[in-house]
Amino acid sequence: MSEKAKSAKEHNYESGLAVVAADKIKDPGLEPHRVRMTDKSPAHERAANRQVAALFILSAIGSVAAIVAYFAFPLTDDLGTVRANTWWLGISITLGLFGIGLGAVHWAKTLMPDAEVSEERHQTRGSDEVRARAIEIIKLADQESGFTRRKLIRRSMYTALALFPLPAIFFFGDLGPSPADSLRHTMWRKGTRLAKDPDGTPIKASDVTLGSIFHVIPAGLEDLHETKLEEKAKAAVILVRVDPADLIESEERKSWSYDGIVAYSKICTHVGCPVALYEQQTHHLLCPCHQSTFDLVDGCKVIFGPASRALPQLPIAVDSEGYLVAQSDFNEPVGPSFWER
Ligand code: FES
Repeated sequence: MSEKAKSAKEHNYESGLAVVAADKIKDPGLEPHRVRMTDKSPAHERAANRQVAALFILSAIGSVAAIVAYFAFPLTDDLGTVRANTWWLGISITLGLFGIGLGAVHWAKTLMPDAEVSEERHQTRGSDEVRARAIEIIKLADQESGFTRRKLIRRSMYTALALFPLPAIFFFGDLGPSPADSLRHTMWRKGTRLAKDPDGTPIKASDVTLGSIFHVIPAGLEDLHETKLEEKAKAAVILVRVDPADLIESEERKSWSYDGIVAYSKICTHVGCPVALYEQQTHHLLCPCHQSTFDLVDGCKVIFGPASRALPQLPIAVDSEGYLVAQSDFNEPVGPSFWER
């Protein structure tokens, strides 16, 4: 038989793939065992023992430092505090995590049994004899690894493991107060004047010409530093004047607009981006984030995109001096509609 024919016989080419017969693969066996320094020298073993403990202690220090850093570098409006807070928390949490990880790896590599073992597969539940043997093995492993005997390592590891999750308590506590009902209400009240964003100038109905668009906040926010920014953001409104004949209004909403002027929440009902683009010809309001499109003359209903509900409408009127005012707060929550899902 030719060499080519022999090769074809040794390989199966039927599926287009060369499959080498199983009996042609030799078991490479285990590499020769290399004795570690910690197995040969008690001095090296003691040193490794101290190193593992030091790593666990380092982890414990990192976890405590994370808690200290959390209180020592509180976040304020100053960018420098954000930098310090991030830097110190990052370093300390890294130490906490790395100390535990490196300590465990170093312990396993230098002090735990270093014997190559091959194990046959067996049923998931072993016989009683096997289970009894397993317990023996666990006890033996405990003896050999020194888990019970090496008190310093064990205690320092417990300390590290116990302290490591602690910073999370503070971090999760910092996620902010429960929103409770705050998502359902904004700063708009009956009689609050509509003002230009950002200068706070109250808007008269006569200022709003046909087709013009205003970005609006409640009047009286001149002292913006004192005002909670999230409250101001929730109250953001788009104000537009259209031909009253173009408006499609339900009976209830007929009194919510004023001579073709309508006001809608500026917070997209998809995931909360500001809806800031207005197409005068089509009366469409566009959200730039994911292209949700709302029909301004038809209750700001969604006509395209991922938003699932219309923009909430702010009922408006005009006061005795001709300024636009809110009749009330929005009648429904502004922003993403997660509470409906
Ligand atoms: S946030 Fe407006 S479409 Fe996604």
